[in-house]
Formats: sequence, C-alpha cells, structure tokens
Amino acid sequence: MKLKIAVLPGDGIGPEIVDQAMKVTKAICEKFGHELEYEYAITGACAIDEVGDPYPAATHDLCMAADAVLFGAIGHPKFDNNPKATVRPEQGLLRMRKQLGLYANLRPVVTFPSLLHKSPLRLDLVEGAEFMCIRELTGGIYFGEKGRKDEGNTAFDNCVYTREEVERILKLAYEFAMKRRKKVTVVDKANVLETSRLWREIAQEIAPKYPEVETEYMFVDNAAMQIIQWPKRFDVMVTENMFGDILTDEASVISGSMGMLPSASIGIHTSVFEPIHGSYPQAAGLNIANPLATVLSAAMMFEYAFNLMEEGALIRAAVNASMDAGVVTEDIADDKSKAAKTSEVGDWLEAWIKKQ
Ligand code: IPM
Ligand code: MN
Repeated sequence: MKLKIAVLPGDGIGPEIVDQAMKVTKAICEKFGHELEYEYAITGACAIDEVGDPYPAATHDLCMAADAVLFGAIGHPKFDNNPKATVRPEQGLLRMRKQLGLYANLRPVVTFPSLLHKSPLRLDLVEGAEFMCIRELTGGIYFGEKGRKDEGNTAFDNCVYTREEVERILKLAYEFAMKRRKKVTVVDKANVLETSRLWREIAQEIAPKYPEVETEYMFVDNAAMQIIQWPKRFDVMVTENMFGDILTDEASVISGSMGMLPSASIGIHTSVFEPIHGSYPQAAGLNIANPLATVLSAAMMFEYAFNLMEEGALIRAAVNASMDAGVVTEDIADDKSKAAKTSEVGDWLEAWIKKQ
C-alpha cells in the first residue's frame, strides 16, 4: 500500500519524539512492504519565528494532500508568559483542527502491565482499567467568540455548540460503544450550562436508537472524581472540548505517565495523530522525553487512517517489549540512572521490529 503522510514535529520535544515515531513508521513500512512517502512542515512557535504564522497555508495544503498527519507538540514559554501576545503557537494547532474538520479526538486510556506500579493510584484501581475518551475538538469555549471590553478590564470566552456538532460526536461515541463494552458516559455540566443541556437533550434522543448501549450521564466535577476513584466503570466517555482536555490529562495518571497517551483526531479531512501531552520545553533538546505517546499515535495512524491493524499491533507489541526490557525514558524508569535516552528507545523499537 502507498502511504502518504505529512510530518509536523512542532516545538519543544516535538522534533525528538517525532523522530522516534518516524523510525518506527519506516521500519513497519519496510517490514510489510508499504511504500512510504512523507514530507515535513512547520507549525507552532517555530512557524511563527520563520513565517509569522503558526499554521501557514503551505502546511495546511500539505496536510490536505496527505493521507494522515503525524504531529508532535507545540507551545513555547515565551508565549505562555506573555498574555499580550497576539499570535500564539496554540492557535496553529487549533486552526489545523478546525480547518481539517477534526471534530473527534479519540484518547484511549490504557494501562501497561509493567507500568502499573508507576501510577499514583492503588494497583487494584488501575489494573485492567481501559476506556476511550472521545473529546469534541472543534467547538465549545475553544472556538466561541472571545474578547475584551471595558478598556480591556472585562474578558469573555463564549461556549457555543450547535445541534449538528453535538449529534455527530454523540453518534460516534455510540458507534464506538457498540464495538466495545456498550456503555456511554456523557460528561457535562447540565446543572449549570445551557450548552450541556443541549448535549443532554440530544443524547436522550440518540440513546434509544442504541438500545443495547447503557447510557450514563455524569457531571464533569463528579467525572473528575470517578476517573481516579473507580476508572474501571468507564467504557466510552464522551464530552465537550475543554472538559475532555482536562479530564484526559487527569486520566493519564492511570497509565503512569503523561508520556504514554496517544490520540487520533478524526473528522472531515485528513486525520491527525498526536500525543496528548504538550511540548515540554524544559526537556527540549535533552534527549530525555518519552517518545512512546507519539509512537503509539503512529500505531493509531496505521489502524485508523489506513486500516492496517497488524501493523498497529506490531508497534504496540514493540512498545510492550521495550518496557519489559526496561528500555524506557526516565519518567517511567525504575532506576533513573539506567534510563534510556529518547533516541535509544526509538533505535531499540526499530531494531525489534526489524527482527520480527
Ligand atoms: C491538547 C493540548 C492543546 C489543547 C493545547 C496545546 C492548545 O493541551 O491537545 O490537549 O488544549 O487542545
Ligand atoms: Mn491538553
């Protein structure tokens, strides 16, 4: 098969972790006889520095022409600490999601046997926990009208959802549940927010169309507690943009490290595969960042963009083997002095895949 991918490393640790995911991607293509065509493009702070735009038109064109996008991370502290900056790296990511129509962000929360002891949660709570968080990605407070008034002394961010936006994400959640354990948890704040009441109204219309699926409604504050109190209760969790952003960072502690959680952003145009973590600027260039979330995002790319399940499975097997062999970065190493470097993890995975 011919695979055409756009590679967007972004900022901070982005280039280092994407390098490892590319080693793995190339090794898989070689092993299975796929023809890989790829091209790099800029996005984020580095694109602002180079061309003054965090998501340049040339990058968008490349993404549109590709079959899949592999994305690293974006963000830079020089913008975080400057609330007056008018152009920000994050706008690049948000525009990419919007322009590609990526309304669904699939964030699988899983545990890894060799990492169970790294979770701050008790073993019996996390062992066997496995759920899919489906985060709406192109609506809500992230994309509503925002601004200042009263000479800058009052600020507002509108949270807006249309029926169409809510329907398509909820339907997707039910379709996923049908292929899984048949339970959907709709997370909202319907006791306070009008947008949440629209979500709940629409969920109540859709739920009867999936009689085999159990529907559970949960307020987001309660969900934040349940995720760490009893994560095994969840199968498919579906929620709006910002709630999903926050809850999945929280859920990453179940796996033991932020550096382990991949994601797939799917929708209308080319899908994007990206780790859920950020650009970790403190570690940029140090060759210490955990590349596994990006490597696992590449596994999702094979599965979701190309329907190549065996390829995805081999990447997952490689990741498990590297953890069993203790070839892991310092965030998940038992003995930090013996931790592997980012590039060593990538080399090890590449060699392991070639040996199979
Ligand atoms: C994520 C990130 C982004 C988000 C930021 C970088 C804009 O936190 O992908 O979860 O909030 O969506
Ligand atoms: Mn986030």
